[in-house]
Amino acid sequence: MEFSIKSGSPEKLRTGALIVGIYESRKLTAAAAALDAASKGRIGEITGSGDMEGKAGSTLLLHKLPGVAAERVLLVGLGKEKEFGAREYRDAVAAAVRALRDTGASDAVCALADEAPRKSGGARALRQAASAVLDVLYRYDTHARHKKDESRALAKMAFTLPKKCSASAAEEALVQGAAIGHAVAFTKTLGNLPPNVCTPTYLAEQALELGRKSGIAVTVLERADMQKLGMGSLLSVSAGTRQPPKFIAMEYRAGKKADAPVVLVGKGVTFDSGGISLKPGEGMDEMKYDMCGGASVLGTLQAIAAMKLPINVVGLIPTVENMPGGAATRPGDVVKSMSGQTIEILNTDAEGRLILCDALTYAERFEPACVVDIATLTGACIIALGHVTSGLMANDDALADELLAAGQSALDRAWRLPIWDDYQEQLKSNFADMGNIGGRPAGSITAACFLSRFTKKYKWAHLDIAGTAWKSGKDKGATGRPVPLLVNFLLERAGKL
Ligand code: BES
Ligand code: MN
Ligand code: ZN
Repeated sequence: MEFSIKSGSPEKLRTGALIVGIYESRKLTAAAAALDAASKGRIGEITGSGDMEGKAGSTLLLHKLPGVAAERVLLVGLGKEKEFGAREYRDAVAAAVRALRDTGASDAVCALADEAPRKSGGARALRQAASAVLDVLYRYDTHARHKKDESRALAKMAFTLPKKCSASAAEEALVQGAAIGHAVAFTKTLGNLPPNVCTPTYLAEQALELGRKSGIAVTVLERADMQKLGMGSLLSVSAGTRQPPKFIAMEYRAGKKADAPVVLVGKGVTFDSGGISLKPGEGMDEMKYDMCGGASVLGTLQAIAAMKLPINVVGLIPTVENMPGGAATRPGDVVKSMSGQTIEILNTDAEGRLILCDALTYAERFEPACVVDIATLTGACIIALGHVTSGLMANDDALADELLAAGQSALDRAWRLPIWDDYQEQLKSNFADMGNIGGRPAGSITAACFLSRFTKKYKWAHLDIAGTAWKSGKDKGATGRPVPLLVNFLLERAGKL
């Protein structure tokens, strides 16, 4: 997909499809009014006929409008003008692209610029629009027999320039939006790949390839390396599988040498059967998505490298498969983490925290400005926040606020839960420094409390993406979240937002 900025009066734009907005109820936007005038009132006739009322998400495709240079005009409903904000704008662009996807148009111009929310001069809206276009056009076809027909696909998309936006700011926003969109797609594909393909070894290879393409320095620690480091907790999770564990470390350093890096830590369980505490069979296939935190770290690093952000970022991905087997960890086993703290494993299905804790200890060596871990950690998070909002927990209020704001501006929201000390007692064990589960009440919080015991040396936040990393049902598939949140967080830190 090629993105660009286009100026000129709407009726004169030569393009396969021109997208213009209609508000409820039948109110023409400036661009739609220009087409109406050029076509001697055709748009008004159509809205008057009841075929396009301006309802949010509705679209109507018109061919060869008299007086209009574009081959097609796509009317898109914007909903109530008073309620039109960043989210509605993004959704309107997405609806338009969904409608154009199945037409013969190979290029389009989106003339919704004047409607875009004016915050940051419209650049933010353009960034969102570009990533929304790629989001809609994403298709997983690695193992599908019917590959998409590329010859007829929408390949070029231009946007009219928002009023108060400079051309250079608009171009930069499109570059950023494309980087985010490609990163989301990469993250989705890693998630969607079957667990017999996307193994820890495969993730490590993907990281190495990203390193080769982007100049990010990548190292992969093997089992023996992890044994030497004392990562007994991480290694206990992979005891029951034939798949060798990997510990991926990626260093992107484009900031000042002296600047402490942001460290991102992503849970990379490529399949979570539960281990000896085996999960029920129904829906177990979806536990291939248990590496989506790790995939979001890969995606985020790909995006910031594409944008050449002047910032230092380290990505760590502990990656394992959690399987039952003759050598698997048993409930009751006690293991020693890299930090020296011992853990009684009371449930082998609470494995995410067991790999993250050693990665969080490893993170200390980077003397980080802050550490953010991203994990499909608890089913309880879905009960608390559903599939709408990621859970956020942190030992630092300023860092939490930064991440909440990044999620807000990326339309990829998170909400904070407390990790007060009162919850820590649920992790008490009679046989080790702590147990790995805290019982049913506040399951997401006690999981974060477990992690907090390994993050005392730095500012830390934890994103529980159990509810947001993928969708179930007929639209089953990875979402690529929280890549938009993470990229916005880093854009802001690099002074580029
Ligand atoms: N990967 C799961 C969490 C999960 C479950 C994410 C369902 C998305 C959908 C995690 O490893 C897990 O199994 N957590 C347990 C923890 C419990 C044993 C304390 C859970 O949430 O049930
Ligand atoms: Mn589990
Ligand atoms: Zn898991």
